[in-house]
Amino acid sequence: MEIAKTIESVKSLVKAANSQGKKIGFVPTMGALHIGHISLIKAAVKSCDFVVVSIFVNPTQFGPSEDLEKYPRPLEKDLEICRKNNADLVFTPSPKEIYPGENITWVTVDKLTESLCGQSRPGHFRGVTTVCTKLFNIVQPDIAFFGQKDAQQAIVIKQMVTDLNMPLEIVICPTVREPDGLAVSSRNQYLSEQQRKDAAYIFKSLKKCQEMIDAGTANAQKVITKMREILQRVPSIEIEYVSIVDAETLQNVDKITGKIFTAVAVKIGSTRLIDNILMDAGER
Ligand code: PAJ
Repeated sequence: MEIAKTIESVKSLVKAANSQGKKIGFVPTMGALHIGHISLIKAAVKSCDFVVVSIFVNPTQFGPSEDLEKYPRPLEKDLEICRKNNADLVFTPSPKEIYPGENITWVTVDKLTESLCGQSRPGHFRGVTTVCTKLFNIVQPDIAFFGQKDAQQAIVIKQMVTDLNMPLEIVICPTVREPDGLAVSSRNQYLSEQQRKDAAYIFKSLKKCQEMIDAGTANAQKVITKMREILQRVPSIEIEYVSIVDAETLQNVDKITGKIFTAVAVKIGSTRLIDNILMDAGER
């Protein structure tokens, strides 16, 4: 496995793989790798011949009061995980390598970034779409792999790739969960033992949503109220949003029908956690 810190070395290593006719798979990450990230690397290894993982804590997607400084950076451990899971190249650039001067060119996706996390994290998606554009231009993959865990991010990236005719395919992989249903996340390690137990209620609320919809409930507000009740029973949980949105437009729905996704964002102490489920409620 190669480790590259510079754009130039990534380009020449990918070029060499390309000249051997290899299909390039790409898994962009911010490191602190866990089984969720590993599932993406495995999916890439399965369908591609040369797998690039990037590890870059992207400053432009963090708000001024967010956890950029505190974000875990266990580089040696991450490299070991990449090696064990058969990545071919790990790109670990410095912030200066990616943003050598003041960045004044941005990629923004409208509409899809206005709801859900876009409301509470202004500028976040602009940072994500800009860094992914830069990384796609550097790596030039055939396929890039994203997780359903960050559903809005995955939908926004797909739209960007379509709208800007970027020459790659986006594959979205299922959310990997802990045994109690909590979505695996690099931020889970911020939680105390009690907070970690409390965090399981996020998935409990989503399961309740699934149950109600399976039982025929079509009133979105009714489902949201029930989910909020479940979350509000846990004193450490502060709800940011509980939303049921159209899976394509990400706009709130009143009536649950067709493809929807239910998304939750909460704060437990100072840790922000998000989760979602994607459902096809069919005709009702
Ligand atoms: P990061 O949070 O490190 O996540 C990297 C990728 O792993 C994302 O596509 C995310 O959806 C996926 N992922 C995280 N937890 C997962 C889980 N439990 N199951 C499945 N996939 C999971 O998302 C980012 O980094 C950044 O915004 C990035 C795209 C790298 C741009 O900076």
